[in-house]
Amino acid sequence: MSQIEKLAPPRHIAIIMDGNGRWAKKRGLPRTAGHKAGAEAFRRTANYCRTLGVEYLTVYAFSTENWRRSEEEVGGIMKLLAAYLKEALRDMQKNHVRFRFFGDLSRLSPDLQKLCLEAQEKSSEFDEVQVNFCLNYGGRDEIVRAVRRYAADVLAGKCDADALTEDMFSLYLDSAGVPDPELVIRPSGELRTSNFLPWQTVYSEFVYMNVLWPDFGPEDLDSAIEEYHRRNRRFGGV
Ligand code: FPP
Repeated sequence: MSQIEKLAPPRHIAIIMDGNGRWAKKRGLPRTAGHKAGAEAFRRTANYCRTLGVEYLTVYAFSTENWRRSEEEVGGIMKLLAAYLKEALRDMQKNHVRFRFFGDLSRLSPDLQKLCLEAQEKSSEFDEVQVNFCLNYGGRDEIVRAVRRYAADVLAGKCDADALTEDMFSLYLDSAGVPDPELVIRPSGELRTSNFLPWQTVYSEFVYMNVLWPDFGPEDLDSAIEEYHRRNRRFGGV
């Protein structure tokens, strides 16, 4: 047993799945081939998280900014997501993965919205790894949507604005009830957070890696977890 398997993994790992386009370009393939390989890397990583006993895996699958890409590329990503969710629904009794979706799903196609809701509802009783898919997700957009819902509750007299606390506000976010991620991984060498979980990651450890997402494997997750354990998390204390 390696050293890392003896260390408790973080409860919640979040990943910005970046580098699919560059992976495809390096091979002279269309960008959609990179996303297909990225979906495979996601499957590998989710399975490995389940093996390690990670409780929550949150992945940035499609951002509010990603609509600016070509119709072909957007369509390709949506197709991969739909295919994955159909497969997940089929294998649900075997895999026991629980699904949640963060983001404004209303802009997705009705078919994809239906698959998301079905996956969420049918998996809600499972207690192995929970995968949170960020779809049409933007961190600022999540906060604005939460503020709208909160303001509606204040106007309806359901709560008192002066009594609002951080814990209460977090219940209006898409991530309501999910503990904050201890570890955020961004492969592909980019050193940005790109509107990913700004509320939830204020105390997270960020590990940036030089591997492109489609090449990401269990050994990369192990090394990110090792790095996480090397860091001394102080939460603003000494
Ligand atoms: C970022 O890489 C990746 C995306 C915008 C899409 C991520 C989508 C997937 C991995 C497939 C989704 C399906 C499942 C089942 C998870 P990029 O395209 O920005 O790469 P680049 O920076 O190299 O161009």
